[in-house]
Amino acid sequence: MRLLLIGAPGSGKGTQAGKLAERFGIAHISSGDLLRQHVQDQTAIGRTIKSYLDRGDLVPNTVVMDMLRKPVVAAVEAGGYVLDGFPRTVEQAQASFPTARSLGAEVQAAIHLDVPSEELVRRLLARRRGSDDTEAVIERRLQVYLDMTVPLLDYYADREWKFAVDGTQAPDAVHEDIVAGLKKLALPG
Ligand code: AP5
Ligand code: MG
Repeated sequence: MRLLLIGAPGSGKGTQAGKLAERFGIAHISSGDLLRQHVQDQTAIGRTIKSYLDRGDLVPNTVVMDMLRKPVVAAVEAGGYVLDGFPRTVEQAQASFPTARSLGAEVQAAIHLDVPSEELVRRLLARRRGSDDTEAVIERRLQVYLDMTVPLLDYYADREWKFAVDGTQAPDAVHEDIVAGLKKLALPG
């Protein structure tokens, strides 16, 4: 099973990816978690990208794609993935497609977690993950989502394997809606 979760900051990508990974025995791959780990470990990548994360800007495509290649290939071999936070631009979707295709590992479903912005801000301010959960950076992350990721949703709009769920419900209810959507696509199977 190969899934994408697309949603604004705070929409519940990490929460739902965790539940899907557990339910279906697939790997949860979060671009944001991996990037934050690099910063924490002060790797070469971490030093390059820290300022982007702190501002709430997207890090350069090549950095994200190079970082994800290995874990995605390993996950494909091990039974599948749920990608949380990648792709988040049309450019990333287009750039990664040839690789996915050559691996025979094209995505089977893209799930949009739909949550209005007031609720997103409320959740993120309550969470305070770190330097990117301040009011100013949250605002920037939401703007980047509108500018860069909403066009990706439009790009996928007529794909039959893309669907949206109401992400304002309780986490378990969101999860069940996702599972119901996957069943409609005859996934898993
Ligand atoms: P990333 O880590 O992906 O952050 P994000 O998109 O801003 O989203 P979050 O992780 O904050 O939220 P989430 O949707 O995972 O929600 P969560 O489940 O945590 O990216 C961080 C940065 O990395 C980017 O700004 C960028 O710089 C860089 N980056 C990452 N990917 C990149 C890419 N592909 N290209 C370039 N740069 C990239 O939930 C949030 C909170 O709400 C939690 O407290 C949770 O408990 C709560 N919650 C969750 N679900 C519910 C619910 N149903 N009801 C009530 N509360 C809920
Ligand atoms: Mg997350």
